Amino acid sequence: MSETESAAISHIYPHQNPPIFLTQISIGEPAVPLLLIVDTGSSFTWIKCGACNTCHSQLPGYDPMVSLTYKSVSCDNSSYSSSPALFPVKKTGECHYRQVYFHGSESRGTLAKETIQFETDDDGFVSIQNVDFGCAQDIINGSDVGSGVLGLAYENLSILKHFENKFSLCFETLSNDPNSGHSFLALGDGARTTGQSTVLFMKYGHYHVDLETISVNGRDIPNYLTHIKGNTIIDTGTTLLNLAGKSYNELKSHIDSFLDGHLNSFIDGNLVCYNGTIQRQLQRLPRITLTFYKGASLELDPTSLFHQFSDKYFCLAVMMTPEEIDLNIIGITALQNYNVGFDLEDETIFFDKISCDYLN
Ligand SMILES: *[C@@H]1O[C@H](CO)[C@@H](O)[C@H](O)[C@H]1NC(C)=O
Ligand SMILES: *[C@@H]1O[C@H](CO)[C@@H](O)[C@H](O)[C@H]1NC(C)=O
Ligand SMILES: *[C@@H]1O[C@H](CO)[C@@H](O)[C@H](O)[C@H]1NC(C)=O
Ligand SMILES: *[C@@H]1O[C@H](CO)[C@@H](O)[C@H](O)[C@H]1NC(C)=O
Repeated sequence: MSETESAAISHIYPHQNPPIFLTQISIGEPAVPLLLIVDTGSSFTWIKCGACNTCHSQLPGYDPMVSLTYKSVSCDNSSYSSSPALFPVKKTGECHYRQVYFHGSESRGTLAKETIQFETDDDGFVSIQNVDFGCAQDIINGSDVGSGVLGLAYENLSILKHFENKFSLCFETLSNDPNSGHSFLALGDGARTTGQSTVLFMKYGHYHVDLETISVNGRDIPNYLTHIKGNTIIDTGTTLLNLAGKSYNELKSHIDSFLDGHLNSFIDGNLVCYNGTIQRQLQRLPRITLTFYKGASLELDPTSLFHQFSDKYFCLAVMMTPEEIDLNIIGITALQNYNVGFDLEDETIFFDKISCDYLN
């Protein structure tokens, strides 16, 4: 059942507000092209289905009634799963799922299998059959963006079981730069694992790394990072960089004093914002570096450290992690201009500040 395909790839597209990347796949027979949120923070793939009750802006999308390759499955056919929660429906023999996300949004529907089509690196297509997915009927507090979620974490129902234990994501910028458009996802053998590496801890369904230091313009700031193994999650489904309490306050005060007298800030929700555009202030804005165990690092230029939320203002793209979670979360703004390679077998993650100019 886990046929292995050599090089499935998919273009990914930036969405600026909220900042997120979407991947293009096709599902079913006849194949329907869709854009899904790329999420390394969850394992379960789900897609808005035809008779969606609470989905916004229902464009002509995927309808399981029309697809020849749709199969609903019973709960006991699927390997036991803790996320999503599964509920057998006695009357119909179907299996309902409920996927709950950390920020309170939720997707509910029917567990099923489908054929999902990716591109290959030679402009062909590859079809992966019997992929577990959720046919979503109800989406609670979800975002309007895309037709669902492609879950790239590693738990039981993940699409990753159809590939070698490897994948990579190459992200260009989130801005609508006409020269961008080469961001891509590569699954299996074609994954790009180059650059500096650090240890990848896989626990509680997430990808963790050890963040050791934070520096502002090359100078380390006092370190309040927790010393538990894997103090930081890599989550492309989260928009901003989240730092646990004291680290957040320390970074913010360094950035405040750096900008003092140059730029006045105001508060928007839980973000610190500034009038104007990042491009106009580029010379004045600091950069930070996050350094991981063994020296691998992520360098955040001003365009990764700040985010342009409208024509009129931009904000520090960093927020404090909710108190109950004593972890840092590296979201998508901090991963711009990086290729991130995941080797699950070797438990290694690679960061490479490299152009994505691999696909045309
Ligand atoms: C479910 O399990 C049965 C019995 O093992 C098997 O024959 C059937 O093909 C499975 N169905 C799916 C959709 O995997
Ligand atoms: C995955 O499935 C196996 C058996 O099918 C089960 O033992 C294990 O607990 C499951 N893992 C999770 C995280 O649900
Ligand atoms: C949606 O989220 C808001 C706040 O995040 C919460 O107050 C509300 O109850 C949620 N709605 C539902 C239907 O869960
Ligand atoms: C930002 O611009 C608005 C509207 O022009 C102005 O009212 C406000 O005082 C400015 N805020 C800061 C912090 O400069």
